[in-house]
Amino acid sequence: MADPIITATGLTKSFGPTQALRGIDLTVERGEVLAVMGPSGSGKSTLVHCLAGVISPDSGSVVLDGTDLTALSPDQRAKVRLQRIGFVFQFGQLLPDLTATDNVALPLLMAGRSRRAANTQAIAWLDRLGLGDQADKSPGSMSGGQAQRVAIARALVTRPAVLFADEPTGSLDSVSSESVLGAMLEVVRESGTTVVLITHDARTAAYADREVIVRDGLLSGAYASVPA
Ligand SMILES: Nc1ncnc2c1ncn2[C@@H]1O[C@H](COP(=O)(O)OP(=O)(O)OP(=O)(O)O)[C@@H](O)[C@H]1O
Ligand SMILES: [Mg+2]
Repeated sequence: MADPIITATGLTKSFGPTQALRGIDLTVERGEVLAVMGPSGSGKSTLVHCLAGVISPDSGSVVLDGTDLTALSPDQRAKVRLQRIGFVFQFGQLLPDLTATDNVALPLLMAGRSRRAANTQAIAWLDRLGLGDQADKSPGSMSGGQAQRVAIARALVTRPAVLFADEPTGSLDSVSSESVLGAMLEVVRESGTTVVLITHDARTAAYADREVIVRDGLLSGAYASVPA
């Protein structure tokens, strides 16, 4: 049965003369893993930033988990992001000199949890991502694939409703990429987390339930059916 967690309607966004989004309608079902593909510069990151409330579209609306993000102030949107959204990027979001545990615990500390509770949760998520024995290492001394697993643990530790991933394995070789994606998909399926995954790579998109293609700021291309 359809149970949308994101409903985006009529999204447009320009940067000066550049029309990055030219009227996008998109629904993401709860628990779905959606791949967003398309050429460089087509508007994928802009779309995801609108869906996640990082930026406001010029027109159109985004309802995420029952909240109309486009009706909120920037501060209110920031709060929604902290509480209900997780992000993973290609690289650069971890503090390289802190331990993996400290990196993953950080969003929980920001949400007001005790250090002890945050560390316990952080270690549990690192364990789920296959890094149980790396908790005291710093991402700066890890392989790229291990560091991305830490980033995924950090994005999921607050149990977000939606995980947005923008080329999360874009900096990895294909073997590490598959193993990191496999680990990510396993934990999101277990926890029922909805995922919106930007990728250039058809092999990565094959992990998704459905893919959409962004071209010149519009959705195009083949749509697999929505999962039952
Ligand atoms: N902050 C910004 N200021 C100016 N132009 C921007 C900004 N963000 C995006 N753009 C422009 O909007 C268009 C869409 O960019 P976007 O980053 O969404 O593309 P993308 O599909 O994510 O590309 P890539 O695959 O290279 O990451 C591009 O023409 C880009 O140059
Ligand atoms: Mg991008």
